[in-house]
Amino acid sequence: MGYTPEMLEMIKKVEATRAARVEKKARGEEFAAMGIDERNELKKKFHPDYKSDALRKVKIGPNAGDEMVNKFVDVLETPSSLELDKVDLNKVDYETDVLIIGGGGAGCAAAIMAAEEGANVLLMTKLRLGDANTMMAEGGIQAAVRAKDSPRTHFLDTIGGGHFKNEPELVRALVFDAPVVIDWLDRLGTMFTKNEKGVMMTIHGGGTSKKRMHSAADMSGAEIMRTLRDAARGKPNVTVVEFEPAVELILDDKGQCFGAVVKNLETNQYKVVRAKATIVSTGGSGRLHYQDFDTTNHYGATGDGLVMAYHAGCKLCFMHPVQYHPTGVVYPAQNIGLLITEKVRGLGAQPINAEGEQFVFPKEPRDIESSAFIRECHDRGKGVPTPTGRVGVWLDSPMIDMLHGEGTVRRELPAKFRQFMNHGIDISRLPMLVYPTLHYQNGGVEMESDAHSKQIPNLYFAGEVAGGIHGENRLMGNSLLDINVFGRRAGGSAAKASRSVELGSPSLTHVVEYNREAGKKGLTGRVAAPILLPDYVGKIK
Ligand code: FUM
Repeated sequence: MGYTPEMLEMIKKVEATRAARVEKKARGEEFAAMGIDERNELKKKFHPDYKSDALRKVKIGPNAGDEMVNKFVDVLETPSSLELDKVDLNKVDYETDVLIIGGGGAGCAAAIMAAEEGANVLLMTKLRLGDANTMMAEGGIQAAVRAKDSPRTHFLDTIGGGHFKNEPELVRALVFDAPVVIDWLDRLGTMFTKNEKGVMMTIHGGGTSKKRMHSAADMSGAEIMRTLRDAARGKPNVTVVEFEPAVELILDDKGQCFGAVVKNLETNQYKVVRAKATIVSTGGSGRLHYQDFDTTNHYGATGDGLVMAYHAGCKLCFMHPVQYHPTGVVYPAQNIGLLITEKVRGLGAQPINAEGEQFVFPKEPRDIESSAFIRECHDRGKGVPTPTGRVGVWLDSPMIDMLHGEGTVRRELPAKFRQFMNHGIDISRLPMLVYPTLHYQNGGVEMESDAHSKQIPNLYFAGEVAGGIHGENRLMGNSLLDINVFGRRAGGSAAKASRSVELGSPSLTHVVEYNREAGKKGLTGRVAAPILLPDYVGKIK
């Protein structure tokens, strides 16, 4: 339990420089942020996306010829796992106005809005309602609500963080809906951290020029998920079915989305859902462990919606840049890969190398911060070894109480405090040891700003499955925001559209054709498509 005597000895170097660093920081002096050229050079040398085997060109489907992250291409180059001969499209098992596939934050936000538009909503989810990356998010949600801030500034920060590659219309929707979302969540009952006057507290995140991160201590995602899940369950016209994930979308003879084939995880039986409008909100793909990285992601984050949408003819975008969160746990070993929220750096904790030196501005955008950590460990030889053969850098959390007063760590970071105390480490007295961990799928399925698919009528996307909002790199707090903004937009748009949709006859020809094309190209597959549940048998080191 706790740090080993060798590690405690190494911590003495951090302690030796701490008082001077705190003093400097209290004077407002900070390690300089990098310029654009320096950032680009660092990223090219050290970010995992730039390793020679990181990407390859996909050989099949709407993005044939585009480079994407290697392990995801394995999934796209696998024929569909659906056993077509076991599906009877003439027998409809569920019928609804709006089908929502995925029960995380985006799915629940969509369900609430669609129900309020008067639609009957069927929400089908792979695990339990709320088992999703939303639940795992910690640090907060961005919204420009303070007098000295504006959605325009939020727009510029977001585009800058995304390296100027984001879809401007999606960013516009994100930042201008943000204040509405914060007010909506507050009224639904989210317990945001507020000061004694009842005003929501805001802090900085990496890449933000203003303090606009709203949090619920360091459990912001869990608290927002609780609120959305309860509100969705409370709607009489929302039906939730758990443990029945969608495995393929169904199109009709007019090329519009007709619903989905779902699979009962207990009986393995396939069922047919007929829906006037379908929303895919299945989340991200961190459980593919790109480049063998550990991940912060939920067990169900296997990229299923991307695969189904791709088989149906949707284009994907930004599937080459992957987000590695700089501060994943590397010690204690039981927690490897778990998230240590950016809020820790937002509150003033500095990344420190084995020599006790600060080596990077703590609030660079995540891809840059992660690259700097990797350089420190693997190029400069200033990483800290762990007893299980890992390496990391210190995150000097005791600075927080020194900067803001005794008790701040326990008050602002109660979940992290308890998580480390369970292993005998008091993070208000001792630093944490961290290394980048796979956190977020920057890209996803192309969509319009009303959440509608760019390619398939009657089909909508919301949450991490959607691409374009964040360009090449998402900023902290813009994900809890986008699940709400585009969940709400998808729910409203789908419910309205469902009133006038005329469905044709159902078809899975697109799946047959995808499989045939894969066969012609000799792509027999290496995994399952979609994966549904990650397979760790024999893979845990
Ligand atoms: O660092 C964090 O708390 C993560 C937040 C996010 O990914 O938005």
